[in-house]
Amino acid sequence: MQVFKTHKKLNEALKGSGISLGMVPTMGALHEGHLALIRQALKENDRVVVSIFVNPTQFNDAEDLKNYPRNLDDDLAQLEPLGAALYIYTPKPQDLYAEGVVAQPQHLMGLDLVMEGAFRQHHFDGVATVVEKLLRSVNPDRAYFGEKDFQQLQIIRCLVEQQKIPVQIIGCPIVRAADGLALSSRNLLLNPEQKSAAPFLYQILQDVQHQWPPKKLSDLTKWVDQQFKEQALFSLDYFVIAEEENLQSAQSLEKGKKYRSFIAAKLGGIRLIDNMGLPII
Ligand code: PAJ
Repeated sequence: MQVFKTHKKLNEALKGSGISLGMVPTMGALHEGHLALIRQALKENDRVVVSIFVNPTQFNDAEDLKNYPRNLDDDLAQLEPLGAALYIYTPKPQDLYAEGVVAQPQHLMGLDLVMEGAFRQHHFDGVATVVEKLLRSVNPDRAYFGEKDFQQLQIIRCLVEQQKIPVQIIGCPIVRAADGLALSSRNLLLNPEQKSAAPFLYQILQDVQHQWPPKKLSDLTKWVDQQFKEQALFSLDYFVIAEEENLQSAQSLEKGKKYRSFIAAKLGGIRLIDNMGLPII
C-alpha cells in the first residue's frame, strides 16, 4: 500500500499500460461498509485507489463539517492488510479545488432536489462537484459506491452519463451491524443510549417490506409516522417510497417497477439515513 497527497504523484505511481484501475471515494472514518467496497474493487481490478477526503462543499452545516469524524491513522491501519494493489489518495482541498473550494451548481434531472437534497440544500452540488473532480483526477475504469447512499449513487450515475466521464459506476449492497444498523461513519457520534435505539430505522424498513405491497400507500406512510411519534428519541425527517430510477415519491404503484423505501431521522443531533429495496409486484 502506498499513500499520496497529490493526484500528480498518484498518477506518476500508477503509470503503466494494460492494468485495470478501480476507485473507491470515501470521507474516511472507515468501517466494514467501506472495506466491503474496497474488497470488491480489489477483486475486479488490478489496482485500486481509495480516496480519503472530507469534502467541505457537501456540508450545508459548518458544525456538521467540524464534528465529522477524522481518524487517518486508524484508516491507514485498516487499509494496510488489504495489500500492495492499494493506492491511497489523501488530498488537501487545493489539490482538487484549484479554482477555490466551491461547489458547481448541477443539473441532475431533479434527482438532487428530493429527500436528502430537500433537507440538505446544495449537498448534492458538493457531492457531484467533488466526485467529478476525483474521477477526472484519477481516471479509473470502475468506481464503487454504496447503496447505503442510494440517492447519491443514482446521482453519480446521472452525473457520469451527463458529463460523459468514461467510468463504470458499480453499486454495492448495504453492510449492516448484527443488530441491523447500517454502518456509517456518523455512528461513531452516537452515545450508548442512541446506539441501542438506532436499529429502529432498520426495523421500520423491514416492517414496511413485510407489509409490501400495501392496499393504500398513504396508509403505510401514516403507519410509519405513527411509529416515530411513539419513539421519544427520534425525530423523523422523511419516510418516502420512491421509484428507484427517478427517486420521485410514488403516488400509486405500477407493476414491474422497482420501488425502494427511504428514511432519514435525527437521533439527538445526529442524522441517520437508511433505505431498502422492495419486492417487484
Ligand atoms: P462516505 O460516507 O465516506 O462513503 C463512502 C462510500 O462508502 C459511499 O459510496 C457510501 O455509500 C459507502 N458506504 C458507507 N457506508 C456503507 C455501508 N454501510 N454499506 C455499504 N456502503 C457504504 O459518501 C461519501 O463518503 C461522500 O459523499 C463521497 C462519495 C466520498 C464524496 O465526498
